[in-house]
Amino acid sequence: MDRKDQKNQKDKQDQKEIITRERLIELLNEDLAREYQAIISYVIYSKVLKGAAYMNIAAELEKHAGEELQHALTISEQIDYFGGDPTPKPKPVRTSKKAEEMLRFDLENENETVRNYRDRVRQAEALGEYALAEDLRQILVQEQDHQISLATALGIDVPQEGLGRKSGKATPVAAK
Ligand SMILES: [Fe+2]
Ligand SMILES: [Fe+2]
Repeated sequence: MDRKDQKNQKDKQDQKEIITRERLIELLNEDLAREYQAIISYVIYSKVLKGAAYMNIAAELEKHAGEELQHALTISEQIDYFGGDPTPKPKPVRTSKKAEEMLRFDLENENETVRNYRDRVRQAEALGEYALAEDLRQILVQEQDHQISLATALGIDVPQEGLGRKSGKATPVAAK
């Protein structure tokens, strides 16, 4: 097989990935596993973060936990609608004794989540599944808010690609 054939085959695979409902169910189950991971992380982190400097962000993380649960319910409903079985298994949760490291793990997970939901919106639209795309968009808005509050707490910038709101330089609220 020469380079051109390989490229054609890859293009076909990419296309197939966009148009297959089975693949969409698999990907939504990955999203659901990430939502469980987020719920567990925020339940733990919001309660173990200690110190005056982290009080605001701990309260924020508790709010995230509730939002992630709503996302999990929405995704689970969509998987069922598409005829799939919602996974019972979360992605692995990383823990740390260090507050800053915990927040960094959370931010990395949120970055991964945002990347995935952006893909998922495009895939849902390519399938003509506009109600799913709309649900995913609403989730995405909240995930981007999570990204921003974590980056702000860490005093670092959020990856700006595709950020339509609340962009700009983050101000640390829990530094040191
Ligand atoms: Fe979520
Ligand atoms: Fe999130």
